[in-house]
Amino acid sequence: MSEKLTLPIRPRRNRKSPAVRGLVRETTLRPEDLIYPLFLHDEEQNDAIESMPGLYRWSLAGLVEEVGRAREVGVRAVVLFPKIEEELKSSHGEECCNADGLVPRAIRAIKKQYPDVAVITDVALDPYNSDGHDGIVVEDDAGELKILNDETVEILCRQALCHADAGADVVSPSDMMDGRIGAIRAALDAAGHEEVSLLSYTAKYASAYYGPFRGALDSAPKAGDKKTYQMDPANRREALREAELDVAEGADMLMVKPAGPYLDIVRDLADSFAIPIAAYQVSGEYLMIKSAAADGWIDEEKVSMESLLGIKRAGADMILTYFAKDVAARL
Ligand code: PBG
Repeated sequence: MSEKLTLPIRPRRNRKSPAVRGLVRETTLRPEDLIYPLFLHDEEQNDAIESMPGLYRWSLAGLVEEVGRAREVGVRAVVLFPKIEEELKSSHGEECCNADGLVPRAIRAIKKQYPDVAVITDVALDPYNSDGHDGIVVEDDAGELKILNDETVEILCRQALCHADAGADVVSPSDMMDGRIGAIRAALDAAGHEEVSLLSYTAKYASAYYGPFRGALDSAPKAGDKKTYQMDPANRREALREAELDVAEGADMLMVKPAGPYLDIVRDLADSFAIPIAAYQVSGEYLMIKSAAADGWIDEEKVSMESLLGIKRAGADMILTYFAKDVAARL
């Protein structure tokens, strides 16, 4: 027999029962932390999205019903992503400013039925742009594609105003053009929309994890990639620089996207800035969990919950996730 071990400090004591574990739990996930991204189209029926199992491109009526179901389980914020018909797309994406366009109609329909749900809109040209980019594309003399910054920002301001006029609570520029936060803030304020919030996609990386989303909306770039505006996945300090600018320009909340592979960035921003941090668990992250679970390799309920808890623990105050409704229902 070996001697009895003298071990005054035993971390396992804090894990000995559900009650004690509950007392010492540092991070919790609440339904009101979640933002539910919803896809919509200008059709009568709801279509299952092949690249994103369990999700639909909703009709306007279907969208309002789905918001109602999410609200029922405690989700109080949604973000809208439209699929725009090919014939409405153009090189400058003017349809994005149409007051009777799909998104403004959806905002009005949701706010009418559920005024207490926060409606967030995506501000970027890609669903409307015939080139599939977030900004206006031109070809230079050498045949290289260029994404125009300042001309794009001007249209984004009109798009944000269009959403605000329709009743959006929060507008969320996802385009990564320089200076758009300040310009949109000024445009909103000049129009009397000082109460409309700005959730900035501050550190949006040029990520391969967006693949299923682009499939869902038919919004992949027709040529080239998004590397001259979205950030290089290798960079960390650059996110701090983007965040400093967004805060100075008047952002109300900062976002990191994707979430799971970029938790260090979430932590950096949470430690460095006093404004709320959002993280976007994107389509590829969702699909990896969904498909592994469909094959029986992992437990979808447990893994989705753990993935979101990890994002919160890294410092996110709120999470955009396609699991929002399902996870909220289990909390
Ligand atoms: C485009 C936009 C994208 C996503 C949200 N807004 C795709 C992109 O930048 O190409 C991706 C979301 C996801 O993958 O779930 N403005």
